[in-house]
Amino acid sequence: MIEVENLTKRYGPTLAVSGVSFNVQKGEILGFLGPNGAGKTTTMRVITGFLPPTEGKVRVAGYDVADEPLEAKRRTGYLPETPPIYPDMTVTEYLAFVARIKGVSHRDIKRRLDEIVEKCAVADVRYRQVGKLSKGYRQRVGLAQALIHNPDVLVLDEPTAGLDPKQIIETRDLIKGLEGQHTVILSTHILPEVSKTCHRVVVINAGQIVAVGTPDELTRRLQGFETVLVTVEGPAAAIIEKFQRVAGVNWVEPRESHEGRVTLEVHSEKEKDVRAELARATVESGWKLYELKTSGLSLEEIFLKLTTKDLSEEAAAKPEKAVN
Ligand SMILES: Nc1ncnc2c1ncn2[C@@H]1O[C@H](COP(=O)(O)OP(=O)(O)OP(=O)(O)O)[C@@H](O)[C@H]1O
Ligand SMILES: [Mg+2]
Repeated sequence: MIEVENLTKRYGPTLAVSGVSFNVQKGEILGFLGPNGAGKTTTMRVITGFLPPTEGKVRVAGYDVADEPLEAKRRTGYLPETPPIYPDMTVTEYLAFVARIKGVSHRDIKRRLDEIVEKCAVADVRYRQVGKLSKGYRQRVGLAQALIHNPDVLVLDEPTAGLDPKQIIETRDLIKGLEGQHTVILSTHILPEVSKTCHRVVVINAGQIVAVGTPDELTRRLQGFETVLVTVEGPAAAIIEKFQRVAGVNWVEPRESHEGRVTLEVHSEKEKDVRAELARATVESGWKLYELKTSGLSLEEIFLKLTTKDLSEEAAAKPEKAVN
């Protein structure tokens, strides 16, 4: 539904996005994750036709955004980083205005407005002036204007930025509810956002894609080995020695020890599940098993690994690349 092919964007000497390619399937919610300045907004502005690419192609619903911008835009809803707001209009006036621009027919506007103010939880402020709304409400009006013409594709630039925790949950639920009917790309630098809302994640750093996959796949790919956390009551040194001898175990590391219980990290070969053997070894020796679980890298750890590894190299390479 969204095809980005070898996209490069320069702002004068600054290389903001470099050779980025990815697709978003119909009905999919894709997370576009990256630290500040990674190129998320730039990519989204190209996808929505607000910015021409320096190189590369973008197709939305089969339409090239450069060759057939009107067709592409008609099928796209866009929540920009800072939504364009007409402060003197009421919420209803503003949404009706956007609906007309987006080609919603006159007789459908009222029904569509009623639906969307409910869906985006702005019904209670619909007669208030947009300029006088709080940041959270303004953000939701921004989301409402992106959805007003019921577009196939939604491009949401940091949709939960500036919202309070309750609003964040409501907005995530709303986005989750678009699954299947709409194709969504949402940018964020907040990790829980992608694991809670997205099927797939594209991680971008310094203008380049550094990883693509489901949150689970990214965890597995980066980890390289399996880790099991075991809590046992018994003599720590003997337990470590015993676990070390279990087939498939590479090494054992104590993590903490508390009231006679010791928690160990047991690292084993990838794809090798040693949990049953660890349980057997514990029981055989007459020790008590309190907990046994696999431990993955947290998304935070993955994100840091992906985005700090290349940053210094990229920063060093960037000025040189930019003048080429
Ligand atoms: N209009 C512009 N003129 C010049 N440089 C720009 C412009 N807009 C963005 N940049 C630069 O392009 C790079 C990518 O910026 P972009 O706004 O796409 O990042 P982002 O991932 O959206 O970051 P954030 O998380 O802070 O919103 C940055 O180095 C930024 O300084
Ligand atoms: Mg941005």
